Amino acid sequence: MKFFIDTANLAQIKEAQDLGVLDGVTTNPSLMAKEGIKGNDNILKHYVDICNITTGDVSAEVIATDFDGMVKEGELLAELHPRIVVKIPMIKDGVKAIKYFTEKGIKTNCTLVFSAGQALLAAKAGATYVSPFVGRLDDVSTDGMDLISDIRIIYDNYAYETQILAASIRHPLHIIQCAKLGADVATCPLSAITALLNHPLTDKGLAQFLADAKK
Ligand code: E4P
Repeated sequence: MKFFIDTANLAQIKEAQDLGVLDGVTTNPSLMAKEGIKGNDNILKHYVDICNITTGDVSAEVIATDFDGMVKEGELLAELHPRIVVKIPMIKDGVKAIKYFTEKGIKTNCTLVFSAGQALLAAKAGATYVSPFVGRLDDVSTDGMDLISDIRIIYDNYAYETQILAASIRHPLHIIQCAKLGADVATCPLSAITALLNHPLTDKGLAQFLADAKK
């Protein structure tokens, strides 16, 4: 399973990259705002900065919600760097835009996916990635993992190449569950990735080995 980091924070992206396990980055307008990145030029420059840190795909989200606007914005984003993936919301014009970019050979990430039907549409339009939001489903008492499982079955039934990019990951158990269900990618906060390192028996065992090595 690929690990993407879900942030626009350059220091965190670098930390994950340096760990050697990073396969890409996802951002969204809220994550950009959280880093205080304002104004079109600054936002575009920030995407390039992210691409210069990671060696994987970088999702950059369009703000427009109409087909023409999404195409214009997406083409501008795609020109920034060869590894930019145009992130497009799961709305009617978004599906049309995904189809348009697919035919032009530009990678897309269909975001804000909350149902299997939406994921099926994204795959039919040729999305490179589909982003089911696990944590936000959990927040409304709906098991986000059921959606990952349903999408995996549907995509396997028809050999769709769209990659399942589990998003809205909140903790390490989400990552493990996604891996068990066969999600292609999990995009995670740095804290969830580094939490995978931890086990008290590792700490206890290491302390014992180090103590014994001094004997
Ligand atoms: C990533 O592509 C999504 O935008 C992100 O994972 C959403 O996460 P959140 O539900 O924690 O905001």
